[in-house]
Parts: sequence; structure tokens; C-alpha cells
Amino acid sequence: MVHQRADSRIEWWKCCSIYQIYPRSFQDSDGDGVGDLNGLLSRVDYLAWLGVGAVWLSPVCRSPMRDFGYDISDYTDVDPLFGTLADFDRLVEALHERNIKVILDVVPNHTSDQHSWFVKSRSSRDDPKRNWYVWADPGPHGGPPNNWLSRFGGSAWEWDARTEQYYYHAFLREQPDLNWHNPEVRSAFADVLRFWLRRGVDGFRVDASAVLAEDPLLRDEPPNPDFDSETPPPEKFNRVFTDARPETMSYIEEMRAVVEEFSDRALLGEVQGGIGRIGQFYDGERPRFHLPLNFLLLDTDWHAATLAAGIDQYINAIPDGAWPVWILGSHDKPRIASQLGLAQARIAAMLLFMLPGTPIFYAGDEIGMPNAMISSEDARDPFEALVPGYGLNRDPERAPMRWDSSEKAGFTTGEPWLPLGDHVEERNVASQQGDRRSLLSLYRQLIALRQTEPALVAGRFQPLRSERGVLLFERCSDDKRLLIALNTRDSSRTCPLQSAGALRLNTHLDRKDERVESQLHLRSNEGVVIEVLTSSA
Ligand code: NOJ
Repeated sequence: MVHQRADSRIEWWKCCSIYQIYPRSFQDSDGDGVGDLNGLLSRVDYLAWLGVGAVWLSPVCRSPMRDFGYDISDYTDVDPLFGTLADFDRLVEALHERNIKVILDVVPNHTSDQHSWFVKSRSSRDDPKRNWYVWADPGPHGGPPNNWLSRFGGSAWEWDARTEQYYYHAFLREQPDLNWHNPEVRSAFADVLRFWLRRGVDGFRVDASAVLAEDPLLRDEPPNPDFDSETPPPEKFNRVFTDARPETMSYIEEMRAVVEEFSDRALLGEVQGGIGRIGQFYDGERPRFHLPLNFLLLDTDWHAATLAAGIDQYINAIPDGAWPVWILGSHDKPRIASQLGLAQARIAAMLLFMLPGTPIFYAGDEIGMPNAMISSEDARDPFEALVPGYGLNRDPERAPMRWDSSEKAGFTTGEPWLPLGDHVEERNVASQQGDRRSLLSLYRQLIALRQTEPALVAGRFQPLRSERGVLLFERCSDDKRLLIALNTRDSSRTCPLQSAGALRLNTHLDRKDERVESQLHLRSNEGVVIEVLTSSA
């Protein structure tokens, strides 16, 4: 079943629900324990059944996999672990046949140290590609040129003995930063984008997009005043000279211009950082991202008042006319079902799809996948090895998708690259497809409701006073008012209603078309969508 779009005049990236897939962990087709493109192809009907309008694929380009694909050694080929370019084309075609758009993760900030550009760049100071990366002489007293720190631990500068200079890497030392100040780099990257756009991708998620440019003076970062013994060491300084530089904004504008050479494409940007700075990533002199990614729902304490305040701050921080976007999970953040528990994971799902803006969720969240328990010694994520002891391991949220309750959960016939984790028996697709009240059924109904109800896509957002743990707001079109009430507590609540209404959906999936009069009763952990029945709609 392909759901009807809420309004075909609204751009697809506003209407659709976006589903992030970490290809390593979605479906293996060849028994090597790692997901691949043909595996994904075998699951496209599931995606259509679920109702998602777009998938965002984490990187599938050639890579030595030091950072599992975020270290690219060839931007215009698929890694053999995942398949071939022909497999990629077949996948895009199959998704398009099902009305599902394809958003590809691209990594412009850095390459792998195995990329031919870097191999040339480090070969000699005179190589024409030398200036494609960020090289610098030692600081005045020897050692690294300045105090910049890698996000993955230690100095961000790596000494190259052969050419006797340091190169800069915001992430792993095997991920040297490209020099975006160099127009040749920008032009080469524009061609990378065009390569994939011509292959039919509908958009990109731009990795680490806020950190493309570094201060040409290489000025030291100032101390982070909030730094203490609990703060991971890479956060010792405030990233003033390496993050969200003005030049970065113009480079994003250039990428947007490339995307606009093609019709109907979208640019999503990873712009980590507080809400206060998100607005600048939409537009400046020229358009920037269509959707700068917003992680507020994952980073906010789960209390109705805190959520209401955070939502309000975010809505007010983005420019007039800018389209909001919400994320409920990612390959970099602990799973929502483990953060909140299954009961509140349902509330989180309802919130995600009822808020104004584009909802993005992460494969497996729809079946309540928990973080897999992986000890520090068994960690595959280099982040854990380099900055141990701060709970930074990202393996738990990267555990394989569960398709059924069989021994390998239908993910592989071999040994999964990461353990499956707990609760496979009930938290798998097959079991939940057969259960009308499962979390998966709830996701499917929420997606369908959003896609068929114009008030939920383009309708106004009207916050209401959220009290005693109940988050309340309305979504309104000219002829419809939908009241959303979400009980974030583990005890029942009663809310007075100004108008009667008809209950359209509840998170427990056991009330429908019930009439609600002056009092709304919510059970513990219950959320509802109510169509308000008054002439004032
Ligand atoms: C953000 C990606 O989401 C993360 O997984 C990766 O490690 C870094 N960028 C570096 O590319």
C-alpha cells in the first residue's frame, strides 16, 4: 500500500516521513554478517508497507571502514562490502517504483587517508593536491600548530614524517580534513554531488557540514568554561575557530546551488550544536539547507514542561518560513526505547509525527529496538577506543535490525557484525506486524495519519499550556483542529477540554472514534489525537 500524499503541491521533503538506514545493520544478503544493498533491496516492500516517503542511507561508498563508511576512499563507487553501482541503481529504481525517495549520506569534510587525493597530497609538498588538505608547520615551540582537538580524542594534528608537516583531522587521524578554502576541492566535490544526482538520488544528508572550514590563522580555541572531570576530553575547548565558520556557510550555499541544478532535490545537513545556532543553517545571502537536522528530542530531558520549552525555543529559533525537522534516533545516539522505556517510546513516536515539520526516525526505532549491550573491550566503534569511559560507544545503536525471532533475527545467515541485543523474540518486525497494537502498528498508523491529514503537514502549530506532565498542542488547518495530548508520566491524568472531540488515535491503539466531552482521561503513558468538534474550527 502506498499512502496518498497529504498535499501534492507541497515539496516531498516536507510531506514525507524519513527513515534512516545504517546499511551495515539493515539486511545482509550474502552471509558475511554485514548488511548490503541487495539485502536492502529485498526489504523495499517493508518500507512501502510502513509508509515512509524517503530513506536516508548512511554512506555506501568505498571505504576502509575505520569509521564504518564515514571515511571514504572513493566518492563515486560503492564499497564491495555493500555491493556495486549496479546494485545501487537497482535499489534506487525499486524505491522510486514504490514512491520512496532516496537521500544519500555524503561526507565532504574529510576523506579516508586511503583516498587517492590524500595519497597524492601527502606524497610531497609540491604535489598539486598538497593544498587539497589542511597542512601546517609545527607550532612556535615545536609540536602541533595549535590546540585544536579531534572530536575523537587527542590533538587534531597528525605529524607526517616524510613531508615534515602536520595535517588536520577533525575526526580520526585516518580521516584527514579536506581544505574547503581551496576552490579545486569545492569544484571536485560539486562533481561528486552531480555524479549521484545523475544516478537519481533525491537528496543528500551532508555529514559534519558545520565544520568544513577552519580559521586560516589557525588561532587557538578558547577554554570551555563548562569543562570538568566528567566532560569528555575532546570538549576541553570551545570550537570557535573550527565550527560554523562564516566560510562554511558560503560552501553550503555552493552545495545547495549544485543540488538546484537538478529539479526537486533536497539538502539535509548535520549541524550538531545548540538550538540557538540552527537558524543560520537555513538561509543567508543565498539558500543553505532545506533541512538542518535537529536533535532536540533526543537531547532534551523527557518532561512535558522541558519538552514544551524546547519545542518552543526551536520553533522560535528557526527563520520565518523555514521548515522544521525532528529526529528520534540515529546511528550516533542511544536508542530512544532504551532512553525512555517502551511505554514512553510510544509517546515519543506520536510526538514526532504530530509536530510541525519533517519527521526522521532510525531503522529499528519502530519496533522498539534497545541499545545492544557491548562491553568496552568488544567495541567496534573507534570513538570508544579513543575516548573510553564516557559512554561514547556508538555500537549499541548500530546493532542489526531484527526481522523475525529466529536465531539471527532474519538479518543474516552468518555471524552478525555486532550482537543482536536483547528482546529479539518480541521486538522484531514479523511479530509486531502480526500484532494490531504493537509499536510497529502505531508507527504505521501515525505515518499514515500524517500523510492523509493536511493539518498535520502544513497546518498551524498551536502550543497549549502543558501541565502535570501532559504535553498539549494543536495542529490546525482552516477546517480542522487536531488536539494532541501526551501523558509523559507513569500515572493517569485528567485534562479539562474546552470543546468536545472525537478520538482519532491513541498510543495504546485500543480507543478509536470515541467521543470525548469536557474531560479527557489519559491512562499512564497514554497519548491521544483528538479531532475537535466545534464550529470554531
Ligand atoms: C557524523 C556521523 O554521523 C558519524 O557517524 C561520523 O563518525 C562523523 N560524522 C564523522 O564523519
